[in-house]
Amino acid sequence: MLNRLFHKPAPVEGTLRSLADSANLQMGVAVDDRLLRGDPRYRELIAREFNMVTAEDAMKFERLHPEPDVYTFEDGDLITGFAQAHGVAVRGHALVWHRMNPAWIEDAVTSPEHLLKLLREHVVTVATHYRGRACAWDVVNEAVSDDGALRESVWLRGLGKEYIEKAFTWAHEADPDACLFYNDYGCEHPGPKQDAVFTLISDLKSRDVPIHGMGFQGHMNVESAPGRRKVTRTLERFATLGLRLQFTEADIWLRSDDCLKPTALKKQARLYAMLMQQGLAQGCFDGFTVWGVADHQSWVPAHFPSWGAPLLFDEDYAEKPAYDALRQALHKSSRRMAR
Ligand code: XIL
Repeated sequence: MLNRLFHKPAPVEGTLRSLADSANLQMGVAVDDRLLRGDPRYRELIAREFNMVTAEDAMKFERLHPEPDVYTFEDGDLITGFAQAHGVAVRGHALVWHRMNPAWIEDAVTSPEHLLKLLREHVVTVATHYRGRACAWDVVNEAVSDDGALRESVWLRGLGKEYIEKAFTWAHEADPDACLFYNDYGCEHPGPKQDAVFTLISDLKSRDVPIHGMGFQGHMNVESAPGRRKVTRTLERFATLGLRLQFTEADIWLRSDDCLKPTALKKQARLYAMLMQQGLAQGCFDGFTVWGVADHQSWVPAHFPSWGAPLLFDEDYAEKPAYDALRQALHKSSRRMAR
């Protein structure tokens, strides 16, 4: 008995997926439809390690609805088909956003009524198409700016802030079973943006707008990532709203020069584990999605050139310390032991 106390903990057995299943957690990953088509190792890894997928780009407005009367569902359907074949859930992403919209929206719009009709038709058509296949939607993505003001967009300009509640109402009418999220970045720590998002969601809830979840994107770099206490305070604050909470796009960026340095990789691993632990500590936290599979496939280096290597697998699909840290966190979670 005494001997056992001095032994190192046994290595954790099981994949992320099996550990997440035991902890009652949706362990997700953003998937790229082109890689899904072309790379068997990518497919195999996703089916092995994750029980949920998000379309990284394939369900965005410009991809699904490139012309006023044209919907192109093939790439999104490829993802839902893959998910179904492997018993994996799908988070839909994203119905209304200020980015990645087709140019025709601004060209075609003749009046606010027209814009309203167009947005309604898009939300209803997409949510109806994926009804029964997507268990959740990011209905409104990034509607708040960093300073806490509502973000300037074609939607805010033309429709005023009501576009937000309308989008939730339409999505709910189209798919009453889907869990509907507000999703944003930079809300993992207290500050003006978090306050504004909290106020926005509280207001929606108080008026019975059908909103069911808050998605914390979880994009962060190792230098400015929030500490444990800030993350706890944040999750506890949003839990009071009676919402489901998830990290929806986690990636933790390293300085480009540090991508292979063991100390940096360990720091990244500790941050991933901290996010997972703080999430699992909340009963209403039920999803942790990473924004891509392998480092070289991440959006980060292309968009933020001084940063990279933010994911759980390296360029050879080898597991990084962050992968193991997440498995340890899932293994140690009381949710798992309670089962
Ligand atoms: C990113 C994708 O990863 C890229 O492939 C694309 O070029 C730009 O968008 N917040 C979001 C995601 O909600 O949709 C974004 O995804 C990353 C930031």
